[in-house]
This record gives sequence, C-alpha cells and structure tokens, in this order.
Amino acid sequence: MPNEKIAKLIEKKEVLALGGGEKGIKKQHDNGKYTARERIEKLLDEGSFIELDTFVEHRCVNFGMEKTKAPGEGVVTGYGTINGRLVYLFAQDFTVIGGSLGEMHAAKIVKVQQMALKMGAPLIGINDSGGARIQEGVDALKGYGDIFYNNTIASGVIPQISVILGPCAGGAVYSPALTDFIFMVDNTSKMFITGPQVIKTVTGEEVSAEALGGAMTHNKVSGVAQFYDETEEACFDKIRYLLSFIPQNNMETTPVVANEDDLNRIDEGLDELVPLNPNKAYDMKTVIHTLSDNGEFLEYQPYYAENIITGFARLNGKSIGVIASQPTKLAGCLDINASDKGAHFIRTCDAFNIPLLTLVDVPGFLPGTGQEYGGIIRHGAKMLYAYSEATVPKVTVITRKAYGGAYIAMCSRHLGADMVYGWPTAEIAVMGPSGAANIIFRKEIADAENADEKRQEKIQEYTDRVANPYIAASRGYIDDVIEPKETRKRVIGAFEMLAGKRETRPAKKHGNMPV
Ligand code: HXC
Repeated sequence: MPNEKIAKLIEKKEVLALGGGEKGIKKQHDNGKYTARERIEKLLDEGSFIELDTFVEHRCVNFGMEKTKAPGEGVVTGYGTINGRLVYLFAQDFTVIGGSLGEMHAAKIVKVQQMALKMGAPLIGINDSGGARIQEGVDALKGYGDIFYNNTIASGVIPQISVILGPCAGGAVYSPALTDFIFMVDNTSKMFITGPQVIKTVTGEEVSAEALGGAMTHNKVSGVAQFYDETEEACFDKIRYLLSFIPQNNMETTPVVANEDDLNRIDEGLDELVPLNPNKAYDMKTVIHTLSDNGEFLEYQPYYAENIITGFARLNGKSIGVIASQPTKLAGCLDINASDKGAHFIRTCDAFNIPLLTLVDVPGFLPGTGQEYGGIIRHGAKMLYAYSEATVPKVTVITRKAYGGAYIAMCSRHLGADMVYGWPTAEIAVMGPSGAANIIFRKEIADAENADEKRQEKIQEYTDRVANPYIAASRGYIDDVIEPKETRKRVIGAFEMLAGKRETRPAKKHGNMPV
C-alpha cells in the first residue's frame, strides 16, 4: 500500500529529526546550547532549509559500532537562504555520538562544500563535535583531510564562515582556520589543539577549557577568531549582517543597499578632531562612523590588535573594507599582531571584490626586542604584500602621522593606492620630527648653550619644512589636501570614480606571501 510506504517515510524522518533523541536534546539544552536543527532554523530565512543526505549511515564495524545507530551521521547538511540569498551549510549534531566525525559524516560535509563551490554560494559550517570518531581510526582522519582540501580549493572563490558552538578540538580546528571568518560564543565555543588534561600531563600547566580556548581567548589573545558574541542568537544575527556586506562569490559584486544618507554630508566635527599636540590621541572610530552611511560599521576582530581597526562599512550603499590606524592604542603603531590582522582582512576584501579605504595615523612599526624576535620583519611584510597584491579600488586618507616604512605600508600611492587624500594635519616623513631633529641636528644641539631650547627650535624647523602634506602633494603622491569635514563626499566620489577599475597582474602560479 503506497500510503503505508509514505507513513513509513514520515516515521523514519521523524526519528532522524530527533538526532540522538530526547535525552541528548535535553542535555544539549541543559548545557545552554541549541541543537543542530534549531541552529539552522534560527540562522536561515524561515522555512527555507532543504536538508540533504538525511539517510546517510556510517559503515563502521569496529568496537561494536555495527550496533550503534547514528541518525544523520551526526551532522545536518543542506542549503537555504539568508535575506533571500542562497547559502549552503552544515551543523554538527552533538547529540549523536558527540557530533564526532567519521568517514560518512565527513562525506556529507564534503558534498555541501562541493555544491557551494559549484553554485558559487557561501558555505557556513556550525562546529560542535568531539572530533575524529575514535572508533573509525584512519577513516575519520581521511574525512578531515578531505574537508581541509576542499576548504583550500574553495578559499577565495566562495566566502566560508565557521561558527564554533561547542567543542572543536585537535586537528578539527584546522577546517575553521582555513575559512574566512570564525564566529565564537561566550561559554559555548572551545577551540584547542590539545585540551586542558593533555596540557597538564605534558607541561604541568593548569588551565580551564574556557581560558585555554574560549571565545574571548581566541578573539582577544590568539587572533584565531574574528567575531565574539554572548549568545547564539546574537551570533546568528551577526552572521546575517556580515553576509549583507559580502558577495556570493569572487565573480560577483557586493550587495547594494538603498542609501538615504546624504552623499555630500559635511561633518564640521572632523575639522576639530586632530589635536594640535602630536602626542595626544583621538579615536579613529569617530572618523569611520562619521564617514560611513548612517554611521554603520561591522568591526572585524574588535578585541585583537586594537592598534589597527578593520571592518566593513557602506558608502553610497556599497560595501567597503576599512583599515585604520587607532591612535588611542599603542599610538596606532603597526606591530606583529596588527600586521597579521590587517593583511588577512585586506586579502579577504580583495578576494571578494570589496574596495579598501585606509585611514592613516601611524607613527611607525613598534620598536623592541619582542617585536624583532617575534619576526616583525616578515609579519610587517604581509601588509606590504597584501596591499600591493590587492587590485580592488584603494582609497587612502592620511589624517596625521605617516612615518617611515609604516607610511608606505598603510596603502600609500607607492603600493598602488588609486586616490590618496591628506588632511592639512598630515605629516609625511621618514620619522617623527623629534627623532629626526635629534639625528640630523645632533651636533648643533650638543654644541648649543641651551640644548633643550635648540632641540625645540630644530624640531619646529623640521616640522615646518618636512612634516606636512604639501611636499608629498607636490610630488603627486597625495592627490589632494582636503578639509576634514568634506571627507565623506570626497571618498564617496573617489570610489564612484573607481567603480570600473580593472587591473591585471603578470600570470603566475601563485605569489609567495611572507607567512
Ligand atoms: C567517539 C565520542 C567522541 C569521539 C565524544 N564522543 N567524542 N565518540 N569519538 N571523538 C561520545 C562520548 O563517548 C559520548 O558517548 C558522547 O559522544 C557525548 O560525549 P560526552 O563525553 O558525554 O560529552 P561531554 O561531557 O560534553 O564532553 C565532550 C568532550 C568529550 C569534551 C568533547 O566527549 C571528549 O573529550 N571527547 C573526546 C575528544 C577527543 O579527544 N577527540 C579526538 C580529538 S583528536 P555516550 O555513548 O557516552 O553518550 C582529533 C583528531 C583530528 O579530532 C585530526 C584531524 C586531522
């Protein structure tokens, strides 16, 4: 009887939809977590999810596994829409053998990876797993290897978003690490190569799982993650918001949002923003919020290397990636972490056709043995490489200091900026006036009756002659010196002019970016 068959199908699907069953679901809820299916429902547009591979089963017979049922193989996969746009996704189901990854679990993930790549749509992976399914041995490892390979092939073609909503341990962390964005949630997410117990055995260190690999650790200390939230709901909202800035794939342009914010808006406050005293800081976020449509800004890695600000904004309804020095942190110096953060963000934007706006107030690369021994040379080089390599429209505004190598590194004309503006307060020089005067007038200062007075005089002389925007402007390195209050309309004008930019590079297999 056909009706019996349909009833059987419905019954099968109902069982599978429960994953590991009521007990597992309760445990998941008691741990303050949603189930895989609840997460998908909350993330996607209502009713848009289409599940794939619901009936996939493992074929492991080791250690009594032939008797273990694993509904859905511990991962829910499929596609749906976010704000009407197609996305593929997988969500590991911790209620089924701890979301552990075996051969067939991995095969389900690989299938959506490959479909997302073929269809040119973002892939979102929700990770909540005990890692490689121990009973499956090398078949589980093979599964991870396949996922890493496909992550790499898809890199730079489709946006890949990883959401850590439970444990993600051992080699499993490398799939998220190969993707473009990692989201983590306080007290829920855990990422580490080896957990607290192993660390205690090997090194004797005692550390809690949260301190070792929790959301704030990876957002603030390690820089592994880009986004932090306190709840799963807030995290899903942020993923949806992020997608509003990025295209479906590398061949498409970013979504355009209707803009009602005045394109010619004048912001008098900017004329007063930069303090007269060069040692005084000001908040560069004021500039970003003032420039962008409706003051909107989605900050990328807001807790990490705060001396450089990165994130997405819109100008005239179109996405731009903002990279900005932050004078309130380490005076806006470039250091190892800021260079890594900046370079990764620049490459993410360039891969996905997001133009770059750089706001510069940089006194230099951070000095010190810690930086030198840590390899600031190769880390700082990433900024030079990423900006030079980027072919998207690049607009730079120098608000104050632009000294030395850091001047070059922050998207100067010489690294291919298409339009460079300076505020009248811009100072472009090999180094700050005080350092410069101490070197080039050393003898004169030492011989003077009043050395301090002479030093001040020479600092002033250097400032007047060199530390201003007009020498760079006279060479054409700066295209115009502008009134700060009109920066919004000038940068919008520049990006509109650059919208059709096409730039090609010599054919090569791939470059060799310093890592
Ligand atoms: C098989 C696993 C499993 C795994 C968990 N389970 N992890 N089964 N392989 N890797 C099972 C548990 O036995 C348990 O089954 C169920 O899932 C739920 O797990 P619990 O331990 O009850 O949950 P909880 O107390 O919340 O602890 C979660 C946990 C813990 C911290 C993740 O399960 C754990 O430490 N698991 C092992 C983690 C690990 O060492 N994985 C290998 C990492 S190495 P029952 O039947 O009791 O409900 C790795 C290499 C990858 O992944 C290399 C890639 C290159």
